[in-house]
Amino acid sequence: MTVIVRDLRPDDRADVEAFAHARHLALPYILWTPEGILHNLNHTHPDARYRSLVAEEDGETIGTAQVRLAYDSPEPGQGDLNIYVRPDRTHRGAGRLLVRAAEEHLAACGATKLFAWVLDEPDNRAFAERHGYRASRSAHFLRLDLANGGLPPLQDLPPGVELRRAADFADDPRPMFELDAETTSDEPSDIDAELTDYDTWIEETWQHPLLDLDLTSVAVVDGRPAAFTAAYTDRATRYATAMTGTARAHRGRGLAKLAKNDSLHRARAAGYKEAFTGNDTDNEPMLAINRWFGYEICATEVRHVRELG
Ligand SMILES: CC(C)(COP(=O)(O)OP(=O)(O)OC[C@H]1O[C@@H](n2cnc3c(N)ncnc32)[C@H](O)[C@@H]1OP(=O)(O)O)[C@@H](O)C(=O)NCCC(=O)NCCS
Repeated sequence: MTVIVRDLRPDDRADVEAFAHARHLALPYILWTPEGILHNLNHTHPDARYRSLVAEEDGETIGTAQVRLAYDSPEPGQGDLNIYVRPDRTHRGAGRLLVRAAEEHLAACGATKLFAWVLDEPDNRAFAERHGYRASRSAHFLRLDLANGGLPPLQDLPPGVELRRAADFADDPRPMFELDAETTSDEPSDIDAELTDYDTWIEETWQHPLLDLDLTSVAVVDGRPAAFTAAYTDRATRYATAMTGTARAHRGRGLAKLAKNDSLHRARAAGYKEAFTGNDTDNEPMLAINRWFGYEICATEVRHVRELG
């Protein structure tokens, strides 16, 4: 009954599947597939010093951690550790060991400010506080029943606006990179992100195995992408929004709704049964959009921060 912590073994398919399963049990509002987990491990920029950790008890994966430096933030010295123990395997010491291993790694890489998402339940919050973390911003997970719920009807296109798919930009995704970079920098968050390197974006984001280029919808104005919604799918029944954004010059004209509605209608037609998304609790425009679609809040998580002395 000894719990040990070690790195995920990327060449061991069963190990990666066990990681995905443990994550799914702890956090079912996010799509966890072996391919997505391996992609993050193998293709996150080397400066992130990314690691996936496993807590194992008697050969069983009971907890997981993803740990990285926020290398793409303009503020140096920030790192994040996201730790989830299987809900049916808590109170065995896995969380404590994962926190210790993750903090040691981040501190050795020079991080002084550590961020962790914590599901908003009393035990989890008490655990974070005992480890020296204080609560910061919060975010909701939201779910839409695509199979049984109704979607708003498809809207008419405003004059000068066309709808395309990300796949239409496969030959030259740079305009999509520019839109993603502009809108990501405006997303409310504890850690400011700046997407500056196109090649890194191609490798980390555009080539992510969960990204569905056909179901990712883009509203185009004067030939340039003005708004988009990025669709992740498990290629079976579950759909999740990775990002929705509208260029600053085009906000408040209904373009985010237009792009996301197009994507959700096509996802439903393709057989997807449920859709997930996540929003900062202060992101009023995005929460308003998601309420309009019928999404319902299914869980809340709270960012916790620890400053290393
Ligand atoms: C959030 C964002 C995508 C909205 O894009 P947009 O094209 O302006 O959105 P739309 O015009 O389609 O719809 C906006 C809705 O929010 C509502 N809204 C705007 N500001 C609001 C506020 N402060 N409080 C409540 N509702 C608000 C609008 O009234 C509109 O709803 P309506 O059509 O019922 O009037 C855009 O602001 C953005 O790119 N933000 C930065 C990136 C980001 O945060 N993305 C979300 C990540 S989860």
